[in-house]
Amino acid sequence: MARHRVLVPGSQVRILPPQPGSPVAVREAIRRSSSEPMSTMSSIFAVVLAAGKGTRMKSNRAKVLHTLCGVPMVNYVIGAIRPLAPDRLLVVVGHQAGLVEGALPEDAEPVLQKEQLGTGDAVRVALGALGGEEEGVLLVVNGDGPLISDRTLDELVERHRSAGVGATVLVAELENPRGLGRVVEDAGVVRIVEERDATEDERQINLVNLGLYAFELSEIRDAIGRLKAENGQGELYLTDVLEIIGSRSRAVTYRLKNPEEANLVNDRSQLARAEEILRRRILDAHMRDGVTVRDPVSTHIEASVEIGRDTVILPGTFLRGNTKIGSDCVVGPSTDLLDTVVEDGALVEHSVGRGAQVGEGASVGPYAFLRPGTVLGPEAKVGAYCEVKNSRVGKGSKVPHLSYVGDAEIGEDANLGAGTITANYDGVRKNRTTIGDGAFTGVNTNLIAPVTIGEGAYLGAGSVVNKDIPPGKLAVGMPARVIRDAPEFLRKASKSEDAEGERPESETED
Ligand code: UD1
Ligand code: CA
Repeated sequence: MARHRVLVPGSQVRILPPQPGSPVAVREAIRRSSSEPMSTMSSIFAVVLAAGKGTRMKSNRAKVLHTLCGVPMVNYVIGAIRPLAPDRLLVVVGHQAGLVEGALPEDAEPVLQKEQLGTGDAVRVALGALGGEEEGVLLVVNGDGPLISDRTLDELVERHRSAGVGATVLVAELENPRGLGRVVEDAGVVRIVEERDATEDERQINLVNLGLYAFELSEIRDAIGRLKAENGQGELYLTDVLEIIGSRSRAVTYRLKNPEEANLVNDRSQLARAEEILRRRILDAHMRDGVTVRDPVSTHIEASVEIGRDTVILPGTFLRGNTKIGSDCVVGPSTDLLDTVVEDGALVEHSVGRGAQVGEGASVGPYAFLRPGTVLGPEAKVGAYCEVKNSRVGKGSKVPHLSYVGDAEIGEDANLGAGTITANYDGVRKNRTTIGDGAFTGVNTNLIAPVTIGEGAYLGAGSVVNKDIPPGKLAVGMPARVIRDAPEFLRKASKSEDAEGERPESETED
């Protein structure tokens, strides 16, 4: 199956791998092949700041755990750092530390900041975890910039190294700088002032701090010890180290090239904006790899989803979690698949799948609900208004209309009539139904589990089956036996319907 994956799943997510020949890929190759890497390139230690609460999200969940296209924000940041191959990748956790730690990939080391005393304090805690011996570059990245690319981080570090300065901060000129630290550059000295601490003139500045920094470890160690919480929030501001470092060696700015990456997330409206960009990146990557997306505007594909070539995704479709779609499939319109595998050539329309598997060339929907543990064999069919749970439907078997199939094993080429129901639950236990190859159930059949319908057996319309039917036999039962006058109240009810003109008497059936 020529499936491709745009992004690696879950916490390992990375927004598009570095292109061969990209600066990141080339440098990575040099780093690997170089016999004396330390002489040409100092080590990189990375710190992600993720201990804050994210007050402006107005959420019970820590900001960095909010997801974009199914992946927590902090994992995008880690994914952008990883290609730089840092010696260590620390993540400062604090607010909901346990939950944030749980979301981190294995190569990220959590470091606990017990009290959130500011970004400067967070870096102080990280430096403590690094120990005093290491030399090289400390890359500090706020955890709330999910669109930052590995390319930008790499360029920031390279610029920092080649300039031979003590600190480099990533900045951007924004039309609307609201809420962000403003960058003041006076005669080569870089100073950052938070909006709440800024003067009226400083607030007019459009150049902002994006919360990404490269520091010489020796410089940041010294400067962090000199920070004072003399500001509007009574916090230790990491941004104050720039002035301190600038007065000893040099602190410079590096301008962001791709303005898209400046989409930082502080509130839910910014979250939606950033997610929209990521969503389009994911769709574009699938389209470039041979997937037709009829209506990108209404199609939502999470970061970890795989789709094969020549598959067509129709409007209103959500593909989430570890969903994998083969090639030459048609999925949608209005289909929502979570952790569902759809094999080559299958069709799924107007349906919902949760932890299901749809075999090659199988057909699902419209309006089917495939629940966990559903496995449809090749060429199987589950049609309109059917629900299937924890069941196998064998090769070529059909469940075409209005059925519930739960805890069942259906062989090959069986046919379930409209309204066939497995009565799998007796109020206490879930019981299994087994239906042999080529068996045929009439419409409105009730299968009282546990029960086995033998190979090639037939069940008459409306039968209620509570004992095993041997192979090849025909079972019929449960006809309406009593015919008498309908009671008074029913006749009244049908009269009043007539009065509304819904069922003229002449059309009433016997
Ligand atoms: C910070 C910068 C600001 C910049 C902006 C960019 C400071 C003082 N200001 O402001 O100049 O424009 O980022 O987004 O640094 N965090 C911790 N521990 C703490 C406090 C924060 O780990 O004690 C983490 C947060 O989880 C977050 C990051 O640091 O990921 C930034 O914190 P946040 O409170 O969002 O800083 P801003 O006020 O946005
Ligand atoms: Ca922020």
